[in-house]
Amino acid sequence: MPNPLHFPPAARPGARRRFLQQLGWGAALFTVRGAFAEQLARPTAWTTEGPFYPPKLPLDTDNDLIIVNDAITPAIGEIAHLTGRLLDAKGEPVRHATIEIWAVDGTGVYLADRANQSKFDANFQGFGRFLTGSTGEYYFRTLKPVVYPGRSAPHIHFKIKTKGQPAWTTQLFIKGHPGNERDGVYQEIGDAQARATVTREFTPLKGSTLGEQAAQFDIILGATAREDEQGNLRGGRRGPPPGGRRGGPPPGDNGGNPPRQ
Ligand SMILES: [Fe+2]
Repeated sequence: MPNPLHFPPAARPGARRRFLQQLGWGAALFTVRGAFAEQLARPTAWTTEGPFYPPKLPLDTDNDLIIVNDAITPAIGEIAHLTGRLLDAKGEPVRHATIEIWAVDGTGVYLADRANQSKFDANFQGFGRFLTGSTGEYYFRTLKPVVYPGRSAPHIHFKIKTKGQPAWTTQLFIKGHPGNERDGVYQEIGDAQARATVTREFTPLKGSTLGEQAAQFDIILGATAREDEQGNLRGGRRGPPPGGRRGGPPPGDNGGNPPRQ
């Protein structure tokens, strides 16, 4: 598992420092309890896992999806730095949780899309994970997501695994993307407030000559999750309604269409 705040050695000199400066890592970004309390009422919306979680994890599962193992050639696409914290309903950090992400490559193909595997960018890791520490922070370097057939809203899948709890999934969307309004999964999330919990701005990383972007996405688990004396999470959390959304099975990850396989 990656160490907290692990930055890949392949990152260009200066990039890490710029990134830290830009986001105020460890300082202003994570000491906004007052602001947090006001928006705390709304836990992050659950969203379907979809059909493209890798059935077999890649050998490299670290938090840098742009470089596979020690490769020299990076993935093709717009680089995006994702940061945030995993929090419980009281705003307390959730530690010892595994945050997993997966998303399409720069041309819209998933690592687990077997039908289109020959088109997948072998330099894109496609999946990554991060173990939260005492502050609940996470960091990923990945691609800004793009559309793919069946989904008009670019998104990054998240799965949260905590001891003693079923895995919980959501998807992160790009604020202002015109495809959001036409996307079946996005529309099914609920009202505008619920959608806002999974929609974030991707902003240019200042000083980056490569057009890198950054997004900050705190994930707030449901109202009753809490830690017991052993540090395990107990109690419920917002998740999929029984039997899937609206009484039926989850319709998959492609806007209600059959999986593209
Ligand atoms: Fe997807």
